Amino acid sequence: MKGIILAGGTGSRLFPATLALSKQLLPVFDKPMIYYPLSVLMLAGLREILVITTPDDRPAFQRLLGDGRQWGIALDYAVQDRPRGIAEALLIGRAFLAGAPVALILGDNLFYGQGLSPLIRRGIAAAQSGEGATLFAYRVPDPQRYGTLVFDATGRPVDIVEKPSEPPSSLVVTGLYMYDGDAPDAAGDLVPSARGELEITDLNRRYLAAGRCRVERLGRGFAWFDAGTHASLLQAAQFVQTVQDRQGLRIGSVEETAWRMGLIDDTRLGALAAPLRASGYGAYLNDLLDEESDGGVG
Ligand code: TTP
Repeated sequence: MKGIILAGGTGSRLFPATLALSKQLLPVFDKPMIYYPLSVLMLAGLREILVITTPDDRPAFQRLLGDGRQWGIALDYAVQDRPRGIAEALLIGRAFLAGAPVALILGDNLFYGQGLSPLIRRGIAAAQSGEGATLFAYRVPDPQRYGTLVFDATGRPVDIVEKPSEPPSSLVVTGLYMYDGDAPDAAGDLVPSARGELEITDLNRRYLAAGRCRVERLGRGFAWFDAGTHASLLQAAQFVQTVQDRQGLRIGSVEETAWRMGLIDDTRLGALAAPLRASGYGAYLNDLLDEESDGGVG
């Protein structure tokens, strides 16, 4: 199983903040937005991850994330020269995937909640055993703004409608998708939509129509944000700040995730923490080491 983070796009709903800088490099409270989806993939146990960016932003992402070795993972980079749709990520990533199943996550999506890793691991296991696709659904008060799931009388997911004026349910498709090894071929069969994009919804509808799509519901204990507008970016930042302040634990720290997953040792975590001390982020990482030796961190 390999991972893809799609971090291209125009970010036009964040103009002028994103005129000169990728949306996914903007901070969500105390760390760059892309740390959040990256740490989700790492928590899921993925080690080989492709980061897709615009051509202009690629050097900045590489400066930030490097080749991943510092965190015990392998990062590759590819570009999407124009935003031709989310499903294009599977075509751009075809050689990288080399037939492997994939977890695709959008670079502006934040997921948080107890039990996220087991939920994601179930999707990975399904993709690895050739079960098709797994989507992650979330209940929202405004399904009109999203791809909304349609269920049959037995509760089986059967379709997705994009931005429905009369929503068939309150469950919408979030920006984390898992597919078996057929996904690049299936994406290659898609035709661009009226807006000229290869729509991920069209791909998901194919898996649904074939009866090869599972839906995992992220229940009320989870938070999901797409930080694509000024208001949602601020909301996501405030959420991160609030939870972090109350718990004294940080959300979306790739260094911490790498350490907790056993990808890096104490010495490496200490070395990563040192240059980050001025912001408090490095002190936090160092404290993890101290608490561990006190037996404090669970
Ligand atoms: P969107 O928020 O739909 O698009 P955008 O990021 O270009 O923003 P805006 O609508 O404000 O212009 O994209 C969701 C995520 O997917 C985001 O992380 C960017 C990424 N994306 C791409 O990388 N390439 C694409 O072709 C599309 C459509 C999205």
